[in-house]
Amino acid sequence: MSTSVAVIGCGNRGLQLARAILQAEGLSLAAVCDVDPNRLGAAMETLGVPGERDHQLLLARADVDAVLVATSARFHAAVTLDALAAHKHVYVEKPLADTPTVARQLARAAEQADVVAMVGYQRRFAPMARALAMEVPAIEPIQCTVVAQRGPMNAQFFFPDHYGGIVDNTTHALDQVLWSMGGRPEGVMGHVRRGSILGDGTIECMEVVIDFDGGRSASVISSMLGVGAANLNEYVGRLGNVWTTDGRTLHVTRHPAITEAGAKKPAGLEVREVTCSGGGGDGSVLALEHFAVRIAGAQAEGWPRGCSFAEGAAAIAVSAAMVQSAEEGRRVPLDEAQ
Ligand SMILES: NC(=O)c1ccc[n+]([C@@H]2O[C@H](COP(=O)([O-])OP(=O)(O)OC[C@H]3O[C@@H](n4cnc5c(N)ncnc54)[C@H](O)[C@@H]3O)[C@@H](O)[C@H]2O)c1
Repeated sequence: MSTSVAVIGCGNRGLQLARAILQAEGLSLAAVCDVDPNRLGAAMETLGVPGERDHQLLLARADVDAVLVATSARFHAAVTLDALAAHKHVYVEKPLADTPTVARQLARAAEQADVVAMVGYQRRFAPMARALAMEVPAIEPIQCTVVAQRGPMNAQFFFPDHYGGIVDNTTHALDQVLWSMGGRPEGVMGHVRRGSILGDGTIECMEVVIDFDGGRSASVISSMLGVGAANLNEYVGRLGNVWTTDGRTLHVTRHPAITEAGAKKPAGLEVREVTCSGGGGDGSVLALEHFAVRIAGAQAEGWPRGCSFAEGAAAIAVSAAMVQSAEEGRRVPLDEAQ
């Protein structure tokens, strides 16, 4: 039996998700919703499904089991709280909310509701992330560096908030370092640069260091001026290293950490190559299939873990703390992030 889903918010992302639903196993597209009549009409015509302007009318329908919330982030909370109150399963696009406080409120509401609630960090289901999830825990990571350079971004992402600008994209990398390092993120040092393109407050370049329990750390460096520049995902561990520069092949070494001053590279150190395989593009279709599997209550073993609302709240706390740290010139403990 398939789960019947309605998509709320028919911008580019809502339409992409609606098409992904049509490809995904275990889900069917029941309806679409947008407050903008032009966007709603275009989505209904393209997808061949009925639509509503008021999301409450969809939530009242017994034949809608779940909703995908693809409005812009500042409207996620209102729609999501209504969906949880209506006992619908919810898949909310990233970022979960526009502030850490609201994101935590959503996480609490999801915990109390007896439904499946997932945040749309679909790259967890893409081949590179699946390969990292296999290899990184085994090296006991203590340090990670992600360089995520991007090309120019659309005008709609030019706004000054901590989740706009380059962070709209790099929030995927923040989620990645949080799940892949494991353990507890404790604080953030950040630097941001704004205004080189339009002279406005949009964050165009960011550097963030997240410190974790046990003195472990992750750095993420990203900009929207990095057209064609190199990217990197590198994990250094107590028992070995894992890195990729193209997202297609991981390089993996195993060695006991070198703890002696002046110690030489261990003899016979081999680099194993792991192909990031299995298809699935950016992970959207697999993420939705995982959502369906969990709604059906079936065994989710062997799947990457879908992003919970609590984890979505952790990612948004990092970007807010990064901006606060940049403004105040100090490390911001994550439990202070508002
Ligand atoms: N996971 C990804 O890779 C990825 C990629 C792109 C965008 N996104 C995310 O998807 C979301 C949407 O992005 P977008 O670029 O399509 O945004 P958008 O602003 O172009 O579209 C959002 C749509 O939601 C509608 N809307 C707003 N409030 C509504 C409400 N209460 N009920 C119904 N419709 C409502 C708007 O009219 C608009 O048409 C954002 O959170 C964005 O960050 C995720």
